[in-house]
Amino acid sequence: MSVDIQTLVEKYNTPLYVYDFNNITNRYDELKDAFGGKKSLVAYAVKSNSNLAVIRHLANLGAGADCVSIGEVRRALQAGVKKYKIIFSGVGKKDSEIREALEEEILLINLESEAEMKRVEMIAKELNIEARISIRVNPNVDPKTHPYISTGLHENKFGVSLDSAKRMYIYAKKSDNLSPVGIHFHIGSQLTELAPIREACGIVADLVRSLDAIGIDIKFFDVGGGIGVVYDNEVTIAPADYAAAILSQIKGLDVTILSEPGRYMMANSGIFLTKVLYEKVNGDKRFVIVDGAMNDLLRPSLYNAYHKIEAVQKEGEKSKADIVGPVCESGDFLGKDVLLPLMEHNDILVVHSAGAYGFTMSSNYNTRGRAAEVAVFDGEAHLIRERETFEDQIRLEASCDTSWQN
Ligand code: LLP
Repeated sequence: MSVDIQTLVEKYNTPLYVYDFNNITNRYDELKDAFGGKKSLVAYAVKSNSNLAVIRHLANLGAGADCVSIGEVRRALQAGVKKYKIIFSGVGKKDSEIREALEEEILLINLESEAEMKRVEMIAKELNIEARISIRVNPNVDPKTHPYISTGLHENKFGVSLDSAKRMYIYAKKSDNLSPVGIHFHIGSQLTELAPIREACGIVADLVRSLDAIGIDIKFFDVGGGIGVVYDNEVTIAPADYAAAILSQIKGLDVTILSEPGRYMMANSGIFLTKVLYEKVNGDKRFVIVDGAMNDLLRPSLYNAYHKIEAVQKEGEKSKADIVGPVCESGDFLGKDVLLPLMEHNDILVVHSAGAYGFTMSSNYNTRGRAAEVAVFDGEAHLIRERETFEDQIRLEASCDTSWQN
């Protein structure tokens, strides 16, 4: 990152998320270029980092948005994503969400069940429109990633089987209020192997061919997200190889390739900064207690995820320590057995690869305000989310009538 961390902390305090917007540009360009002259749309997975400034930056580059709630759709629209580049996915959409998405005329509503298709059809009928839909198929491919973020097996709740998808397409084709133009799959996140992606693409492309044979013309081939990133020493997939694997499976199909990367765009575009409060030793276990916690960055506690942690400008003999936050849970840690020199009050730690699924998974647990967020772009820092105050947190409670308790 091209700015001094100490200066950022002096100006914005901690806990703090900092994103490198130039890196986001590079990630976007790299992926977009990988598809070369092919028709493609990078629909950024808003769930990975939904800050308006992040979405706006990607929208300016030409990205679309993959959304999983009407809130995310609204964020995308507000940030300037073109409506014809917005996709709305998710296993449980409410009627009100479906209606609003249809009224906004976004690119695609992605269906995850037959029951949902009927709801979308009914609402589209009420609105007297034809809803552009895609269907999420579950190709039953093992993505070889963490079970919590694996989604393409039948044991997962996502998508429908190939057989049901085909039945749904035939139904949708006959409906006056459904226009089946897309197909979608997403087998999992943090994928580091190409073979499962290639296999899933092949299976879904075959379905597209068989649909074509019965007059159903699929225009959007959505491969989901999932490209893995380096947190530790993983060997990841190069965008060029990723694109080549997809293209090799869809030969002869005249489709626009949609992809929904989240982590790939954001994980290593962001760091989380936290200050040391105290050191303490229990028996022979060393703890460094910091002002950031599981409510700010949940991934270590939830998935036992590894994030590299380093001290800023700190010399000295290193020994192992657990980096823990102030939250009242034994599971509140940011790192385990991290090699660090002796730390003092107000020393800064950098938690790396924190740009994706960091802030978006944060909470107010223990009445802790959410962290501030800063963008660094061309060497300049800009605040993109204020630090949440106590008043922000209690606003919706303080506004309620309390007279019944007097
Ligand atoms: N598309 C769909 C349909 C998805 O379900 C997801 C992620 C994405 C795209 C974006 O995947 P990505 O490119 O970021 O891998 N909280 C977990 C990750 C959950 C991912 C959920 N779905 C984590 O912190 O690792």
